Amino acid sequence: MPTKLTPEVEKVLWSAAEEAAARAYAPYSGFHVGAALLTSEGEIASGCNVENASYGLTNCAERTAVFRAIAEGKLAKGVSIAAIAVVHRDHQSCTPCGACRQVLSEFGMNAVVLYEFDGERRQTTVSALLPESFQL
Ligand code: THU
Repeated sequence: MPTKLTPEVEKVLWSAAEEAAARAYAPYSGFHVGAALLTSEGEIASGCNVENASYGLTNCAERTAVFRAIAEGKLAKGVSIAAIAVVHRDHQSCTPCGACRQVLSEFGMNAVVLYEFDGERRQTTVSALLPESFQL
């Protein structure tokens, strides 16, 4: 079952994602994205998109947050992602791309995804965004 987020926790995730979006390195697209995830242990890790002159090497904000959480020991074995908030710096619509959905699915199909679309703040889950995801 997806975690029921309190308004306070949602607020913390939205602001952590906004702070991360302000740090995005996006000189090529000008599209500044931030993400902040909450683990099942109550820890938070944020990330931003990091672009490169060799465009295909770009890393999205969501994956940066996941990789950072792993590197910091916040997503160790047995820990899952309870929720992730994704924002664009200027509040343009931004949902996780296909690659990020697959990466998120590894750490929590039930994770709640907070995102902005058409000027509204919305919620869904990883399983709704990526049904029948690939698993080994
Ligand atoms: N981007 C993200 O960081 N997350 C998404 O969910 C969609 C796209 C980034 C990648 C690239 O730096 C820029 O947005 C434009 O695609």
